[in-house]
Amino acid sequence: MTDKTSPGKVDMDKMVSLCKRRGYIFQSSEIYGGLGSCWDYGPLGVELKRNIKDAWWKTNVQEREDMVGLDSAIIMHPQIWVASGHVEGFSDPLVECKNCHLRWRTDAITEGKCSSCGGELTEPRMFNLMFRTFMGPVEEQASTVYMRPETAQGIFVNFSNVLTTSRKKLPFGIAQIGKAFRNEITPGNFIFRSREFEQMEIEYFVKPGNDEKWFNFWLEERLNWYIKLGIDKDHLKLRHHGEDELAHYARDCYDIEYLFPMGWAELEGIANRGEFDLQRHSLSSGRALNYFDEETGQNITPFVIEPSAGVDRSTLAFLLDAYEEEQDKEGIRVILHLHPSLAPVKVAVLPLSRNEKLVPLSREIWSRLRSSWMTQYDDAQSIGRRYRRQDEIGTPFCVTIDFQSLEDNAVTVRERDSMQQIRVPIDNLKAVIAAKLAGEAFEEANPGGS
Ligand code: GAP
Repeated sequence: MTDKTSPGKVDMDKMVSLCKRRGYIFQSSEIYGGLGSCWDYGPLGVELKRNIKDAWWKTNVQEREDMVGLDSAIIMHPQIWVASGHVEGFSDPLVECKNCHLRWRTDAITEGKCSSCGGELTEPRMFNLMFRTFMGPVEEQASTVYMRPETAQGIFVNFSNVLTTSRKKLPFGIAQIGKAFRNEITPGNFIFRSREFEQMEIEYFVKPGNDEKWFNFWLEERLNWYIKLGIDKDHLKLRHHGEDELAHYARDCYDIEYLFPMGWAELEGIANRGEFDLQRHSLSSGRALNYFDEETGQNITPFVIEPSAGVDRSTLAFLLDAYEEEQDKEGIRVILHLHPSLAPVKVAVLPLSRNEKLVPLSREIWSRLRSSWMTQYDDAQSIGRRYRRQDEIGTPFCVTIDFQSLEDNAVTVRERDSMQQIRVPIDNLKAVIAAKLAGEAFEEANPGGS
């Protein structure tokens, strides 16, 4: 990691425009003029986001012996948010411009004046970020419920259910991916800060005293996950929270920051929450959330290490870091160097032309590949234009079917990053692409090919 400070290779406007043009991300409710800081994921965006979540789940749940998953409800008992401290403390200080009435978080104000019109500001007052709604037919205080602002609390209140049914021993973790909602005062920077977003959270329960060791373990583990999936390590750094910025539940916290176009900003938070949450819910519910330690014969309240990542922020970071522009003789070639496991489309099938003999063979190959991967079939315009279209959305492999294919039953496979092309027998095509997606070189994946 370096102390690189200048933002990366693409500005946010260009990324927003690419995402809209190619069907990654659209503004929510666009035909009604949009809704502040809510976003819809299009055909490619939904695949990318799902691949990110799958990669996270595979690394953190499937491949670990000490982790299990959970999918808890978004709307939970309102007392949970009292016990967790969110009703009282999940607030941002807010000021209002006396002139234009725009509201700002105090940390978004630099010169003591409204950032929009320069007007005078009111004194700060606290503004709770939780969305509220009513459960049942009566809209009254007693029926108020909250849209969860973090998935974590669903894990804490299920601690005993999961412990008893999974029979895990400390240390062990519970992982959850799901939507969270925050009525952010100054959202922005595209999907970086929105009002509806997804989190990927782990609550990792450890014996008190072992928390520092596991805190350090998760810092390294989580940082490496982004690097393994293709983010340049010089665009990532760990930032330690000062005492004055720690969340109300945290004993210690680091942010994994990414070098976004607007500068370094939080991608994931990793906190040592101590025994705060289990203890608060035990007291508030009257149900003991303990662990029986066989070594000492005592009930203990485990400490919690929490790596908490944002799906949307990860999506943005993976897109930004993958982006490259290359000048060639036909102009600018845009390439998304997405890791193959994250790329929305793995293989594009491109008949050289719409010739009546090439089309049936191409469609047959396409249908064979579709059972294994997300694919696209494209026969419009020149082959060069079609390669560029696939490069721009990050498709790692293009399969071209030409007239020679009718003779030799082989096709050309082109690799996005190297632009290397090899000839592969149709019968080997699936095996070659599978080997390539698993990271093998072209030569190893296609023995006997050319
Ligand atoms: N349970 C701990 C927790 O929620 P957080 O730092 O407030 O901690 C964790 O949020 C992650 O969730 C952040 O690092 C970020 O990736 C994502 N996140 C938080 N607020 C967000 C927002 N308004 N829009 C998009 N992502 C957000």
